[in-house]
Amino acid sequence: MEIEIRAPKNELEWEQYYDLRYRILRQPWNQPRGSERNEGDATGIHFALYENGNLKAIARLDFNEDKSAQVRFMAVESEIQRKGYGKQVMLAIERYCKANSVTEIVLHAREIALPFYESLGYQLVEKSHLLFNEIQHSLMKKSV
Ligand SMILES: CC(C)(COP(=O)(O)OP(=O)(O)OC[C@H]1O[C@@H](n2cnc3c(N)ncnc32)[C@H](O)[C@@H]1OP(=O)(O)O)[C@@H](O)C(=O)NCCC(=O)NCCS
Repeated sequence: MEIEIRAPKNELEWEQYYDLRYRILRQPWNQPRGSERNEGDATGIHFALYENGNLKAIARLDFNEDKSAQVRFMAVESEIQRKGYGKQVMLAIERYCKANSVTEIVLHAREIALPFYESLGYQLVEKSHLLFNEIQHSLMKKSV
């Protein structure tokens, strides 16, 4: 079994990347296609986990000011959640941060994902925004 974590590298891979983001993070709340993308996609660092060439999990990392970076759009293909793919992506992000002088990772976690990030050592800072009027997010952080 070959695992690769890297940015998508051709048109088809980019399509699959945004499609996974859409299906997991937008479609269940009836958001339109296109709503899964934003301006930060041009500057963010994209992480995609391929198992034997098949996309399984994704996340984006944005550099903030002051050696801080933010994880956004973390998603794992629906039928394979809780099998360690999300953790592998987060660990790859942490390695990338360490290699690039980032000392703090922050993120806004959905309520449902709090135990996932806690298991990886992220600490709850405070409740933050409500997405689509219903999904509570909480600011979390970890020193790396
Ligand atoms: C949240 C999400 C990214 C986690 O990725 P995942 O691949 O499912 O999680 P992993 O299997 O890597 O979990 C690693 C560890 O986190 C913890 N964990 C993960 N989900 C958990 C849950 N629902 N409850 C308790 N612990 C959990 C466990 O300790 C787990 O290890 P274990 O399975 O050996 O017990 C993924 O489930 C997902 O995409 N969910 C839907 C979209 C979403 O909410 N994205 C996050 C937006 S902030």
